[in-house]
Amino acid sequence: MRLDQREIRAVEKVLRSGWLRAGRIVEDFEARFARSVGARFAVAVNSGTAALFLAYRALLDPGDEIIVPDFTFIATASMAAAVGARPVFADVDPATYCLGPAQVEKRITPRTRALAPVHLYGHPADIDGLARLARKHHLRIIWDAAQSHGASYLGRDVGSYPDVVCYSFYPSKNMTTTEGGMLTTSDEKLATELRLARSHGEESRYHHTRIGFNFRLTDVVAALGCEQLRKLPAAVRKRRRHAAILARGLRHVAGLAPPRTADHALHAFNLFTVRVIPNVLGMTRDDFQERLAQRGIETAVHYPRALHQQPIFSGYGSDRDFPVSSELAQTVLSLPVHPALSERDLERIIRSVKEVAAKNS
Ligand SMILES: Cc1ncc(COP(=O)(O)O)c(C=O)c1O
Repeated sequence: MRLDQREIRAVEKVLRSGWLRAGRIVEDFEARFARSVGARFAVAVNSGTAALFLAYRALLDPGDEIIVPDFTFIATASMAAAVGARPVFADVDPATYCLGPAQVEKRITPRTRALAPVHLYGHPADIDGLARLARKHHLRIIWDAAQSHGASYLGRDVGSYPDVVCYSFYPSKNMTTTEGGMLTTSDEKLATELRLARSHGEESRYHHTRIGFNFRLTDVVAALGCEQLRKLPAAVRKRRRHAAILARGLRHVAGLAPPRTADHALHAFNLFTVRVIPNVLGMTRDDFQERLAQRGIETAVHYPRALHQQPIFSGYGSDRDFPVSSELAQTVLSLPVHPALSERDLERIIRSVKEVAAKNS
């Protein structure tokens, strides 16, 4: 991520002011972020992982089960385990790669207390379907929107949905504060709990009413966050445009399945992830990635392992229980889609992909 002069000046101004901790600029960033997604409250923290940890800690008790997608970044599940809850993995929808009601329903038990759907790659999950199921079974929902700043579901921003939404501002995300994160909610009591837990449970100066942590963001990086937030709508529009160019350019390449967008979704395209069909393409995903690298096209795999395949979750199920996520771990490949790409970059990516694919057809 390249920062522009305005962003660098905003950070420099805070550095020169001498106010290096959380203060007025963090509050301003929170207010702007809440307004931008249509939530009543936003609570800034120092990572997306901290956001998930605080949300789980506020809504789960030790021993509770929480249903999480088997195909996501580790923190969606590991932070549930970190607060003493039990993550229960569910396979993902074969079209959107997100958790859907059909997958969740099979995993509900009397101990299920919550769901943690992920808007994977920037594609909103089936929010209404999941919310209906949650209401029926009295479950809370913690949405993991770490990859989906600027995504919306049926015209409404994903950050406005109850109970709570967790964001990351890691540099690869749609907006950044270097490290950083945010929780959004319209539940005032929950927002207060999250704020207290973020900073030592300190209700007033040196008066601690809960056990809390130091998960605070600083004014230095909140200044960057304010500038990045201002640029977010244009950045996401660019990502969508790049995704459309890539999808159009690659539509006739046999052996590559482009990302699909459900009717309900406005995709934020944090990632443009294709699926390799090895027996049609004539090579594995890893070979395909290697050959693109030889042509100078940098790609990435999100993720090479499903969660049930991670050493920390051994015993949570086998590949047979998770056919979709097990297959995705072997076949997904993310092509560059970020806003800094030029038309020529995109043409070069499309040309290289076609050349590599043609060599084996
Ligand atoms: C889906 C998902 N959840 C959680 C996180 C954790 O965020 P962070 O890296 O800011 O701790 C990430 C970021 O990598 C993510 O992609």
